[in-house]
Amino acid sequence: MDIVFAASECTPWAKTGGLADVVGALPRALAKLGHTVSVFLPYYRQVAKAVPDAAVVLPSITIPFPSYNRFVRILDGGLILGVQHYFVDCPELFDRESFYATPAGDYADNAERFGLFSRAVIEATKVLGVPDVFHVHDWQAAMIAVLLRSVYFFDPVFRRVPVVLSIHNAGYQGWFPPQTMETLLLPWDMFTYQKLEQNDTLNFLKGGIVYADALTTVSQKYAQEIQTGEFGNGLDSLLRQRSGDLFGILNGVDYDEWDPAVDPHISAHYTVDKLDGKSECRRDLLHAFGLEGVGEETAVIGVVSRFATQKGFDFIVAIMDRLVREDMVLVMLGNGEEYYERLLTEMAARYPGKVRVQVKYDNVIAHKIEAGSDMFLMPSRYEPCGLNQIYSLKYGTIPIVRATGGLDDTIDEQPFGGGNGFKFWGYDPKSLMDAIGRALGTFQNKDEWTRMMRRGMAQDFSWEKPAHEYVRVYERVIENRS
Ligand code: ADP
Ligand code: GLC
Repeated sequence: MDIVFAASECTPWAKTGGLADVVGALPRALAKLGHTVSVFLPYYRQVAKAVPDAAVVLPSITIPFPSYNRFVRILDGGLILGVQHYFVDCPELFDRESFYATPAGDYADNAERFGLFSRAVIEATKVLGVPDVFHVHDWQAAMIAVLLRSVYFFDPVFRRVPVVLSIHNAGYQGWFPPQTMETLLLPWDMFTYQKLEQNDTLNFLKGGIVYADALTTVSQKYAQEIQTGEFGNGLDSLLRQRSGDLFGILNGVDYDEWDPAVDPHISAHYTVDKLDGKSECRRDLLHAFGLEGVGEETAVIGVVSRFATQKGFDFIVAIMDRLVREDMVLVMLGNGEEYYERLLTEMAARYPGKVRVQVKYDNVIAHKIEAGSDMFLMPSRYEPCGLNQIYSLKYGTIPIVRATGGLDDTIDEQPFGGGNGFKFWGYDPKSLMDAIGRALGTFQNKDEWTRMMRRGMAQDFSWEKPAHEYVRVYERVIENRS
């Protein structure tokens, strides 16, 4: 089967979160199963820095706008582990400091940027090869489904080509003013509640949900949750209508990147049978955060996260005064919303011996936290899948999570340290504090703790199984369209 992926992030070039990990790893798993996969990604400034001399595959594609054209080049991102990567180059739109936003807010022309990206992918495949199925990710690529079923409707080469849309996060939908219909040359009769309109905005993700042949999301629990008013962000009734075509497929882990037995970023290697290296990683982590004096009996709690409301930082802040009285230290790595960057920096300044924060994006420190912490904290308000808790399991770092989305599907708390972690249901700081309390209590019993670590480390979340599930979805939509 020939599959084209389109997404706004992909490891190793462009990453703010788990989307990049998925778009990096799933195509490789599909290629291993014998499929032909190519991935399209915008040629952001950061990508251009990493691959400055990417060869030109297509020198000029015309993308029309109301009174002007833009011209896009398709560049060769290389064949990596069986997957062909292409970059969509349009310097006026992508040669910028960030992918989506500045600290002052989203780029004002994001609709044009990702509308152009979607059209460019469609046009490029007409030359490079029309796939059997498009697999598009989140609102930034959702327009591919809309365009193919509207302004490309009469193009004979796409008639039978279905689109699968993966929703990684329904909290981000791509809302734009009505006038954007004209900017993107979309017919006004699609600006209705049944199609692209929502609350008098053009909603990219909604369009994708209406027009894609099948929808997937990244855990079974989140597939149910987004069909409710609480998690659907206004799209729940539409998602209920499409529930027959909506599949929850839990993300996998790329163990070439995230395995303490081979991880090049950590100071010692270890496995489920030979755990010794973990204490060296712990020392190294404490050193990286300037916490050298911390003893064995003190629990090291790690956080790696985008700083966003979704991630439940207000719960952490709310329990901070209470938490610092416990025998623990908290090491946090993250960046994102300025409000949380400031708040957490203030917390670290208030409790310097107990709380440390590094405000940045740093892949090496992220790996060090996974390896060197005793516990990993993810009190998310909602979490479509969540990858860090699954990485933590492999690193023998016990997750403490809120029971939502993929966190609920992957973490199981049982009495007396059974299960693979700690989880809480409440939407309040006390429930979080209680869960941390249970973890700290269990941490005192080293045998019980080690058994729990080993149980998590032995679990297998590799991509092979989810890749098979995606293939079944592709087969179904291809069949339905033929
Ligand atoms: P989300 O996609 O919602 O951010 P996930 O748990 O799915 O959450 O994935 C987050 C990914 O991004 C993980 O690979 C994590 O290690 C990485 N990550 C998040 N913040 C940072 C950061 N500040 N520095 C390095 N890696 C980060
Ligand atoms: C999103 C979600 C996260 C998920 C990731 C990859 O960013 O917030 O939960 O793991 O996408 O699917």
